[in-house]
Amino acid sequence: MLENIFSRYPKEPSSLVMVLQDVQSELGYLPAEALGEVSTRLGVPRSRVYSVASFYNVLSLEPRGKHLVRVCMGTACHVRGAPLVLDAAVRELGVADGETTADKKFTIQSVGCVGACAIAPVVEIDEEHFGQLTVPKMSKLLKNIEQKGEEGA
Ligand code: FES
Repeated sequence: MLENIFSRYPKEPSSLVMVLQDVQSELGYLPAEALGEVSTRLGVPRSRVYSVASFYNVLSLEPRGKHLVRVCMGTACHVRGAPLVLDAAVRELGVADGETTADKKFTIQSVGCVGACAIAPVVEIDEEHFGQLTVPKMSKLLKNIEQKGEEGA
């Protein structure tokens, strides 16, 4: 099922991270079946495949929502109110950090520094950065995305 991806890299353990990233982009997450195939094809023990898959924030063992809301909890963001911004997202979407809404529209994930400290506190939504967030701005941002989705539906 992942023939395309395997054809891009040497079949060796050093290809592991790149293959996992490509599987993540292709399927949106890393299902157990795909991880088994990666383990066999690259000759990497399953435990190692799982530990790498769990280590990187960009990789996910669970299906994610259509929109990935990554709230930066790095130091610069933390001191400028990131915990309040995260709470606002949790309240607005009704799911905990790391979880996906029942309608599969949003996943919230707290992460380390996303490299935009100058505009802290920062939230990254679908790879776009939004800075100087406040609780009302966070709620408004999520509502706007939800409305856009409904208009496009
Ligand atoms: S600490 Fe949040 S962007 Fe750097």
